Amino acid sequence: PRFFVLNGPNLNLLGKREPGIYGGHTLADIEALCVEAGARLGFTVDFRQTNHEGTLVDWMHEAQDAADGIAINAGAYTHTSIALHDAARAIRVPVVELHLSNVHAREAFRHHSYLAPAAKGVICGFGAQSYLLALQALQSLTQSAE
Ligand code: DQA
Repeated sequence: PRFFVLNGPNLNLLGKREPGIYGGHTLADIEALCVEAGARLGFTVDFRQTNHEGTLVDWMHEAQDAADGIAINAGAYTHTSIALHDAARAIRVPVVELHLSNVHAREAFRHHSYLAPAAKGVICGFGAQSYLLALQALQSLTQSAE
């Protein structure tokens, strides 16, 4: 299987950005962890980041033909974007929402996700490990679909 790992706004600044909340890993470090997990567990990872909401929508549409699942850290668009909700509903590939931080232990405005009701599930609070857990979830979804 081939999984898209999509990253939204400000995640390009990981490592420098509020390391007390988001950890010291850069996004390139996390990409390397994901690619390495894929090599070990038997899936391919297409890892991307954008600061633009519409680009995330385009990539979700692209996944329809090009991927078996999407792990997405939509950053702040999680809490604002009906477009991402609609995109996740419009495609047949499974979507797993993920966050580095435990959004439920933070400000109230992070407690609501527009994306979550359209996702298969949500993983948050495990730092870089959240990405690996999301990929494992996609892999088991893909296997149970076979
Ligand atoms: C985040 C949590 C969001 O609330 C925040 O806007 C982010 C990062 C996380 O990975 O913990 O940009 O998605």
